[in-house]
Amino acid sequence: MQINALTGAFGAEVFDIDLKGGIESEQARSIEEALAENVVLVFRNQDLDIYDFERFAMSLGEFGETPFIAPIDGHPNVLRLLREAEEKGPLFGSGWHSDWSFQLQPPSATLLYALEVPEVGGDTAFTNQYLAFESLSDSMQSILRDLKGLHSAERSYGPQGTFGQPDPGSSMHIQGDETAVVLQAHPLVRSHPLTGRQSLFVNEVYTVGIEGMTKTESSALLEFLFEHSRQIAFTCRVRWMPGTLTMWDNRATQHFAINDYSGSKREMYRITLAGEQPVLN
Ligand code: SIN
Repeated sequence: MQINALTGAFGAEVFDIDLKGGIESEQARSIEEALAENVVLVFRNQDLDIYDFERFAMSLGEFGETPFIAPIDGHPNVLRLLREAEEKGPLFGSGWHSDWSFQLQPPSATLLYALEVPEVGGDTAFTNQYLAFESLSDSMQSILRDLKGLHSAERSYGPQGTFGQPDPGSSMHIQGDETAVVLQAHPLVRSHPLTGRQSLFVNEVYTVGIEGMTKTESSALLEFLFEHSRQIAFTCRVRWMPGTLTMWDNRATQHFAINDYSGSKREMYRITLAGEQPVLN
């Protein structure tokens, strides 16, 4: 396996590995370590069917739970992210977020495999939440270590949310409901179970408040943290090609699906891996 950095900040492309037909457990451990270190890993030119994709994911962990979106028939852990060329509605994933951070145990990692992509456009952007935290002053770091963020799926999947009502024009079967309004508290700063590094665990899609603070207080602090996290020096961007598989570590990154490919089709398979309850050690 050869690993080439994507940017000076983080992210890496992985070469000399064929994911079709399964990988050895030693290779799986190397990938886990590389992911923890690089946060985003991009595997190019992989020729996978849905079974290969599931097998690769299972070699790295257990499947995570996927709420609100209908999976592929016969493959309860795989989503098809499909946007047809003529679609106009809100784009799934188009807002800075860490996957399902409103769950008690949000997914550790997400795997996305490109079947069909626009000739240009449809990239995915990532932030590095280790760098976002480490670049703050010692005083701000110690304030944040004492706080818990409140996460909720309401803005996306609540009855009034972006995907709250069925959209007949959408190729994806997204169905929000009232369960989305539940609040889940997580530390604003979490320790990574493999690296021990601390990262800022907030995102503008799902983090809706801070425990013990008024709305005005929490909004001001969260706005600062959202803006701080997405500064260009803490980001990288993945350009897709058919056969690209990208995986990211939700414990240390936010991501954003860029909506700049109107008139083109984009189709992906997506799996999340089960994670643990975030803690700060
Ligand atoms: C996601 O948020 O999981 C989807 C990202 C993408 O489609 O690029």
